[in-house]
Amino acid sequence: MNYVSILPRMVVIALSAVSWQLYGGLAQSAELPRSAVSSGSADRARDYYITISKSLAFNATPTVTTLDDLIAFLGYPMTGAALETLDPSILMDSSQLVAATGVGSSQKGVGSVEGDILAARFFAPKITNINTAVPQPGWRKLVRFRIHSDSPAARAGIESAIVLFNFFPPIDAPPFSTRSVNTQVMLLAPKRDERLLWLDFGPDQKLTFALNASFDAVTLGATNSYFVPDGCNDCHGSPGNLRQPMVNYLDTDHWFDRLNDDFVALKTANTPLLFDAQTNDPTQPQFIVAFDVIRRFNAEALQQNLNVRPAGFETQAAQTWIRLHAQSDEHFPPIRRAFTVGSGEPWQPQEAEGLNRLNRYCFRCHGSVYFSVFDRPAVIQRVGNIRQRLSPSPQQAGRPGFKMPPDRTLEPSELTVLNDFLKQLK
Ligand code: HEC
Ligand code: HEC
Repeated sequence: MNYVSILPRMVVIALSAVSWQLYGGLAQSAELPRSAVSSGSADRARDYYITISKSLAFNATPTVTTLDDLIAFLGYPMTGAALETLDPSILMDSSQLVAATGVGSSQKGVGSVEGDILAARFFAPKITNINTAVPQPGWRKLVRFRIHSDSPAARAGIESAIVLFNFFPPIDAPPFSTRSVNTQVMLLAPKRDERLLWLDFGPDQKLTFALNASFDAVTLGATNSYFVPDGCNDCHGSPGNLRQPMVNYLDTDHWFDRLNDDFVALKTANTPLLFDAQTNDPTQPQFIVAFDVIRRFNAEALQQNLNVRPAGFETQAAQTWIRLHAQSDEHFPPIRRAFTVGSGEPWQPQEAEGLNRLNRYCFRCHGSVYFSVFDRPAVIQRVGNIRQRLSPSPQQAGRPGFKMPPDRTLEPSELTVLNDFLKQLK
């Protein structure tokens, strides 16, 4: 029994409000301009954690619950610090993991079965603040745990868990040389009503209400709080929280695309984007191994998507990645990744440049929010709306979350080219 659930409701709210102020979170107030990506609210996040604490029998108390507690709940005797710092190659190899964590090999749950843990480190343009002259690239480390039947998580119906660390090292420092500023978690429980649950941990690996990110950098300054669960659902297939949320596949192709626009510095430095590959050369043995981890993760993501919404554009996008990469570790340019969900022509080769721009400026969200820019008919269907949102009238610009993109101001020349491209689409 966790202590939150036995306290009277009013006391819980009072206590949480105090701790929230103590660690300096900013609640959404009515006067603040509203973000495009849903922020959710501290109140909703607080209620959410109270609810899931009961239903999972896991004490999810902000500033108290640690990543260590979560990993123990998942049935893996390992610290959060080890999880954050150990190389994926160690995490995925039971004997190396036992040696590194000092956990006895007889102990259950430590990568004892091949494939129990999948881990990968990669470049993450989607978390990078691009509303700046020289973006400081973000990097992510993802760990997927398969849950063993004798763990507390299994008793709560959880079958797998995904932990995602976020790193922002100084531009001239190696990618994973700093601590994770935020650690996002997804619990997958396909047999429960609520099939996917969210948790978020701060830099101290203690539970927090929100992720801090730069999705609305233009309207709201550099970063904003995106609270569980609403702030997460938006980009995970469930805007407005009206449907089952989804796992996002990892788009390796998009990472490589971005070397040619906002991240030329990474290209010049030849920094390995699949960090564990130690190279960007897809023919090298270590690249093949690192790429295969992503392929395995994406196959699972696709399976989750198929179970939740087989006809969704999110599923189609994951399917496209899997189809292209079934036999190939190469980088496919945007035009090769075009797909359609309904009827209508896919993107044509002569439209490749226009698609490149939509990919650069919009895919951060419109790969998983409302529509995919890779789905030509979906773009054509809302082309009038798109053009208005790119160049809103003063009145429209005053509507919160209207102006697109919300995360940067486009160069006038780019706006013109984009608008000309959109205008002639039919
Ligand atoms: C602006 C869109 C956006 C928001 C908001 C967002 N995510 Fe994600 N999330 C993504 C994308 C895209 C990926 C795939 C990884 C990548 O591209 O870097 C992802 C990946 C993840 C993953 C790894 C599993 C997967 O789906 O690939 C977890 C865990 C996760 N997010 C948790 C969260 C949590 C928790 C929140 C809210 C606090 C959140 N996300 C909010 C877009 C978003
Ligand atoms: C950082 C995330 C983000 C980026 C980048 C972004 N959008 Fe959006 N977009 C959103 C969100 C969130 C909404 C829903 C906002 C609302 O409630 O009106 C939205 C809504 C829209 C809509 C209306 C919804 C619909 O289904 O028709 C259009 C059109 C649109 N965006 C176009 C674009 C275009 C074009 C770009 C790139 C030039 C872009 N957006 C970039 C997050 C983003």
